[in-house]
Amino acid sequence: MSLTSTSIDPSRFRDALGHYASGITVITSLVDASPIGFTCQSFYSVSVNPPLVSFSVMASSASYPAIRRAGRFAVNILAADQAHLSSQFARRGQDKWQGVDWQASPLGNPIIAGSLHWLDCQIHAEHVAGDHLIVIGEVLAMDQQKPASAQPLLYFRGQYRDIAEAMRNEETAGRAAKKRVRQACKTIGADRMITLTYRENMTARERALRDWDRFRRRMCKYKQFLHVAVIEEQERGAIHFHVAVHGRQSYHLLRSIWAEVVGRDENGRLCAM
Ligand SMILES: Cc1cc2nc3c(=O)[nH]c(=O)nc-3n(C[C@H](O)[C@H](O)[C@H](O)COP(=O)(O)O)c2cc1C
Repeated sequence: MSLTSTSIDPSRFRDALGHYASGITVITSLVDASPIGFTCQSFYSVSVNPPLVSFSVMASSASYPAIRRAGRFAVNILAADQAHLSSQFARRGQDKWQGVDWQASPLGNPIIAGSLHWLDCQIHAEHVAGDHLIVIGEVLAMDQQKPASAQPLLYFRGQYRDIAEAMRNEETAGRAAKKRVRQACKTIGADRMITLTYRENMTARERALRDWDRFRRRMCKYKQFLHVAVIEEQERGAIHFHVAVHGRQSYHLLRSIWAEVVGRDENGRLCAM
């Protein structure tokens, strides 16, 4: 496949970057006895020796000039149950600290209660980069606030994600779907169920549904394919389609129709239940 360069449209650029999943932090500081802070996704580690981390901040940020004056900041890595804090610290001009419990770090920066981990930093360098500033901090202290089993708040494609909850939902949905499939099989008296799996991320959903539609129309011609039971989505990044069938030869026929519709590009896999 060849890649051609295209002009970069800002909204497509943001959309592209949204595919990079990250944690969420709140960068905080204390200036003139007032806590300040803003939600920041662009945090990453830079160096181990010396211990350096970085974030980038919009040049128009209201908080950053004060953080620069203080010369120090804390990175609060948010936990899965702190999405509301991410939203709160992403608002401008509001009282971001309303209802937020915090205490001062060794350097005097606010540490938000319930965050996963914090790092206390001194500003080491700052670089202008387009409409943002890249800020590099030297880590002088750090500590964990929650047990190792605690889950992080994740951000992916413009939404907060909670891994543990997503996995629980997937499992519940998966179990419920399998039950519906078995029930449907029994009702229509099918020999067995064949699952067609689309092993791609959810951006392929539309394409999968289109393929599925074409596939179903082709299947209608064969009487041994009785029923489409469930479309079970998002189970570990896969989309499953279940087909109830009669007869031992069905698997091979189904497989060849699937290969024809989906193509032979490894998107579709077949497995019998
Ligand atoms: C999930 C999320 C991630 C964000 N990441 C950043 C970031 O990396 N850098 C940044 O400057 N702003 C980021 N923002 C936006 C700021 O939090 C927001 O503009 C905030 O109002 C800035 O506050 P301030 O003007 O007090 O600095 C993010 C917002 C959200 C919701």
